Amino acid sequence: MSDNKRILVTSALPYANGPLHLGHLAGAYLTADFYVRYKRLTGADVAFICGSDEHGVPITIAAEKEGVQPQDIVDRYHNINKKAFEEFGISFDYYGRTSSKVHHETSQEFFKHLYDKGFFKKKTEQQLYDPKSNMFLPDRYVKGTCPNCSYEEAYGDQCEKCGSSLSPTELINPISALSGEKPELKETEHWYMPLGDLQPKLEAWLEDKSDWKPNVMGQIKSWLNDGLADRAATRDLTWGVPVPIEGAEGKVLYVWFDAPIGYISATKEWGQEQGNSELWKDYWQDKSTELYHFIGKDNIVFHCIMFPIMLMEHGDYVLPKNVPANEFLNLEGQKLSTSRGWAVWLHEYLEDFSPDLLRYALGATLPESKDSDFSWKDFQARVNNELAAVLGNFAFRALSFTSKYADSKVPSSNELKQIDNDALNAIEVQKEKITKAYEAFRFKEAISETMQLARIGNKYFTETEPWKTRNSDPQACNNSLYVSLQICAALSVLMDPILPDSMKVLRQQLGFEGEVNWDAVNSSMLTSGNDIQPGEVLFSKIEDSEIESQMTKLEERAAANNPASKFEPLKENIEFPDFMKMDIRAGEILTAEKIEKSDKLLKLTVDIGVETRTIVSGIAKHVDIDQLKGQKVSVVANLAPKKLMGVKSEGMILMAEDSEGKLWFVETASEAGSTIT
Ligand code: 2FM
Ligand code: ZN
Repeated sequence: MSDNKRILVTSALPYANGPLHLGHLAGAYLTADFYVRYKRLTGADVAFICGSDEHGVPITIAAEKEGVQPQDIVDRYHNINKKAFEEFGISFDYYGRTSSKVHHETSQEFFKHLYDKGFFKKKTEQQLYDPKSNMFLPDRYVKGTCPNCSYEEAYGDQCEKCGSSLSPTELINPISALSGEKPELKETEHWYMPLGDLQPKLEAWLEDKSDWKPNVMGQIKSWLNDGLADRAATRDLTWGVPVPIEGAEGKVLYVWFDAPIGYISATKEWGQEQGNSELWKDYWQDKSTELYHFIGKDNIVFHCIMFPIMLMEHGDYVLPKNVPANEFLNLEGQKLSTSRGWAVWLHEYLEDFSPDLLRYALGATLPESKDSDFSWKDFQARVNNELAAVLGNFAFRALSFTSKYADSKVPSSNELKQIDNDALNAIEVQKEKITKAYEAFRFKEAISETMQLARIGNKYFTETEPWKTRNSDPQACNNSLYVSLQICAALSVLMDPILPDSMKVLRQQLGFEGEVNWDAVNSSMLTSGNDIQPGEVLFSKIEDSEIESQMTKLEERAAANNPASKFEPLKENIEFPDFMKMDIRAGEILTAEKIEKSDKLLKLTVDIGVETRTIVSGIAKHVDIDQLKGQKVSVVANLAPKKLMGVKSEGMILMAEDSEGKLWFVETASEAGSTIT
């Protein structure tokens, strides 16, 4: 049964203010691509739309930081991100950008249409204003203390600690992100979306969405329980889409008003590119179209509450059938952070490994229902133990055996035994499970059930031992190869949404000429007598050294972004008289000997000018004992004596510990006995 539904899939438009990392992929792009590729295989008419979000405070702040124009920032990152998506195999039909003319016109028309219908509430309000920078401070232009959780670095639109949505005036002790000054209040006018009034209508629309993911519905319910508040659709900024009505000069559309309309404008541009400027209407205005938004969890409110209300009130558009949002991905047990450099950038990943490896490994650990973690060790294990040891190994064994002992042709089957039939039946059984998982947006399950078919195949090959039956029972050997190759053929399509490059190679190796089609997946995709063309193994194992170098890269970048993190935090201040109580002297080591039963401690005699001291020091692992005589040191001379391993220690030698934990003497050239202050 082929699926000829019309489906519109969108992935959140990433801000063009920086490169993409694994967190982005795991949130809104990889799953959408799995789904789209699966749906295309089923014969559905799919449009997969995305593009750069080029407006809003994230862009202007990035430009200010670099001292360039916002246009420079978006041009740079639009191109970097578009290329990275392409190279990674995210198969958008169109990747637009919200600075385009079509987008400006489309979002202005959308606003104007709602405005003419009397949708907006005009409000005059006091807003935070930075007199030094001569501008209002919407969204992330202001920072302060969160009124809900007291986090001191909350933004004017959101507290990243407790997740609550804020308006700038709610912040306690607000500070301008531009000048660092305390802002003042100044009157301004804005056009608000009356989300509160429309809550009952939204709730009615949400009523039949019982198939939405619990993590998504949970967040929606929490917003609804708190009661929706009106939200301004305009901002006092210069970068953005100008508000297309009189009296709003110098104002632009709120980025979260124009960005989702970007899905519509990009669909228009996609049609225009194909010479059909009406095409977009089939996807946005024909009510039989199924619209799916793929997003990360921080975008839920916009796609499940605000944009549906905008679409509903506009009246001409389809509304989303589902919004399969993902939770967040952590990296090596820590929150991903661009500013701390704790991220794996997609374009850098692609310099070292092929896309399919990450598509599989990340797909297998997606944060589908709760936050999940990506680690390089897990990546290596997925590649080595699953892709290489199971899928690749199985395909290689089946193909190379056929090439060597069956004249590179799909053998014929005859008198299949239970074990052969069970393996063949697994194709249909697994296909059904995989299909169900895709339809329910359970991609991890789809991946593991597909890999399960490879496991079944691999185990079958081992158990039927064609290398033995080759001489003892040639038909049994043929049956083993026939069944194994049919499983490989099924896998080459069922695994295609996840591993498009490798499965294409596998299909070539299998001499597979049939149409690549989900419906055609069955237990007799290959015809006996057809030629196969075995080639290289599909996946090679990843060495430990490759993973170590990724870890080093990550740690080095994190350290470079945050030099202070390598060192211990500073201690509390002490008063000067307390400091003056310490008697620190220049000294010189006279003798050094090991202390029995201790691998750390050395017994030293040290000349501190006024007298010679015995000092026990825990430096044995950091120094060469034979080189210590004559070493200049600094000694805390008035530390109360203490017995260590039976030896009375009369002072302490100062050492500096570097970021790797190695100890170094604090040397002074002045003569022994000099006071150090
Ligand atoms: O969170 C973000 O990165 C936004 N740029 C997503 C926008 S999605 C859509 F509305 F365009
Ligand atoms: Zn908070």
